[in-house]
Amino acid sequence: MPKDRTKISKCLFPAAGYGTRFLPATKAIPKEMLPVLTKPLLQYGVEEAISAQIDTMAIVTGRGKRAIEDHFDISYELEHQIKGTSKEHYLTEIRDVITKCTFSYTRQIEMKGLGHAILSGETLIGDEPFAVVLADDLCDNNGSSVLSQMVTLYEKYRCSIVAVEEIPPQDSNKYGVIAGNMEEDGVIRVTDMVEKPDPKDAPSNLAIIGRYILTPDIFDILRDTKPGKGGEIQITDALLAQAKEGRVIAYRFEGKRFDCGSVDGFVEATNYFYNKKSI
Ligand code: G1P
Repeated sequence: MPKDRTKISKCLFPAAGYGTRFLPATKAIPKEMLPVLTKPLLQYGVEEAISAQIDTMAIVTGRGKRAIEDHFDISYELEHQIKGTSKEHYLTEIRDVITKCTFSYTRQIEMKGLGHAILSGETLIGDEPFAVVLADDLCDNNGSSVLSQMVTLYEKYRCSIVAVEEIPPQDSNKYGVIAGNMEEDGVIRVTDMVEKPDPKDAPSNLAIIGRYILTPDIFDILRDTKPGKGGEIQITDALLAQAKEGRVIAYRFEGKRFDCGSVDGFVEATNYFYNKKSI
């Protein structure tokens, strides 16, 4: 049966960053492998993608990130040691993930920004719409996951989608910030987007969080995108080209999001998941 090129079946995980804010913990361990309770951040992201019926995980890694590949693989020694013992249940979740999807990897050779990381993943995605998850934005819901909500929305709008939430105005310089017109409840047709503006220049208080659905023409746009904020190739700038043609919507998702790229957010997420588990 020919592949349905309109269905979201792949999720890209940019995972090449250095994790400087978590040094020394991230000196030899990828930041995506830092655990919230017992589960690495990246596994939360992969499970969210699985919940959105996505079965191909495309991971853009870098030097020193081999622990990621080992994590999403069978450890025969561990399986041998633990099989049939009272500890076997500790492996249930990760075994489940490994059987439900396939993983492919490529390396980002130079660190030239999120846009560049996404472009490096083109070889794993090809010519189809895809999701992007930034694993350090950890999301949780009681109902359907943020990515499932976005995949459902994609069925209706068939264009690129960014997840947004309200932020305090003084935080605008940490995020991509959007402006646009209300399309329906929680959905905004984007007319402008700016990467990490000063609060005085921010077009609104709606910030992009690390969940995207992108149409594949984004790769050609990224190839032509000049370095922007911080001298890096920004996905926000590439999306602006689509937004100018009315092809980007922003979605005010339902659920909670933790900024696990910061120590405060990481601790908050840890407490949240710990309390949730104890209930
Ligand atoms: C990236 C994006 C930014 C977005 C943010 C969400 O920034 O460039 O537009 O708002 O992720 O977490 P980073 O946090 O990688 O600096």
